[in-house]
Amino acid sequence: PKHIIEAAKKALDEGKTGYTPAAGIYELREAVAEYISESRGVDVKPKEVVITVGAKMGIFASLIAFLDPGDEVVIPSPTYPAYEGVTKFVGGVPVTVKLREERGFSPSGEEIASAVTDKTKAIVINTPGNPTGGVYSREDIEAIYEVAKKKDIVVISDEIYEHIIFDGKKHVSALSIGDKEHTVLLGGFSKSWSMTGWRLGWVIAPEKVADKVAKVQLNSASCPASFVQYAAIAALKGPWDDVWKMVKEYEARRNLIYEEVNSIPGFSMIKPAATFYAFPNVSKLGVKSSKLADMLLNEAGVALLPGTSFGAEGEGYLRISFATSRENIKKGMKRIRDFVKEKFF
Ligand SMILES: Cc1ncc(COP(=O)(O)O)c(C=O)c1O
Repeated sequence: PKHIIEAAKKALDEGKTGYTPAAGIYELREAVAEYISESRGVDVKPKEVVITVGAKMGIFASLIAFLDPGDEVVIPSPTYPAYEGVTKFVGGVPVTVKLREERGFSPSGEEIASAVTDKTKAIVINTPGNPTGGVYSREDIEAIYEVAKKKDIVVISDEIYEHIIFDGKKHVSALSIGDKEHTVLLGGFSKSWSMTGWRLGWVIAPEKVADKVAKVQLNSASCPASFVQYAAIAALKGPWDDVWKMVKEYEARRNLIYEEVNSIPGFSMIKPAATFYAFPNVSKLGVKSSKLADMLLNEAGVALLPGTSFGAEGEGYLRISFATSRENIKKGMKRIRDFVKEKFF
């Protein structure tokens, strides 16, 4: 959005180009604390907010803050790959729970509980979810917290797609359901404001954890870029019109791609409830997802990802991003449809 770009330019002109505190400038921590407090109905203080170099740094730093070698992390999967990657990087053990299409890709409390052991340090959830486009139900999040509280485990909740949610549904945040002591909330500016290249996210955590997260950032990136943080204050303060306009457009694209995907023989898909990802089930075609994705790239000229790029549980699925024009979506879908008809039927 234009007013955010203007705010970045203004910050540059005003010479806001030096290092900032590792946890971010106070004004932005305050603005995020205000936004989170209001949207979650929980009192969050600026000292419980760390501004990170993208949500990805938030994932990295918060897992490092909790994990020692041998510790287990429960991760519903297929999922954004960074959780598993960082867990392994620090010598931890990812324990995956298969997200099922028939549950709208929302894990049940029993499924989570059965993956928890005495070594579990964290449960990572991602709602709305990449790559599934699924949204966890309130009941499922409540059940996850029952497990987390009983075993004194932290829930790390990645809510970066919180605004990109359809059909008038309201985002249900982990922080609105669980207690602050057992929650690390991740979010940021990349998706809602299309600020992927600006590299700006947030971590909301109890002060002691927030301090550790800031320390990881201090000793790696030092701090997020200074003028970008000033621009982010403008993003939060609004106007938010561009955000809602974009979400509306994503919803129209979601409706389009839902119809298109289900018209391809051998493909089936439940309606993505959120995000800008379609996650069709292609298991009927009887070919491995990675092979199908390669064929579609090389023989039909369509770039998409196999479900297995998001964990072994993604076998039998493809992930298609619809962060592109409706025209491109139609063109891509036609290519896939023509290719599949010719090759498999
Ligand atoms: C679930 C999820 N979390 C985090 C990120 C990373 O966000 P950022 O660009 O702010 O680092 C992504 C980006 O694709 C994502 O899909």
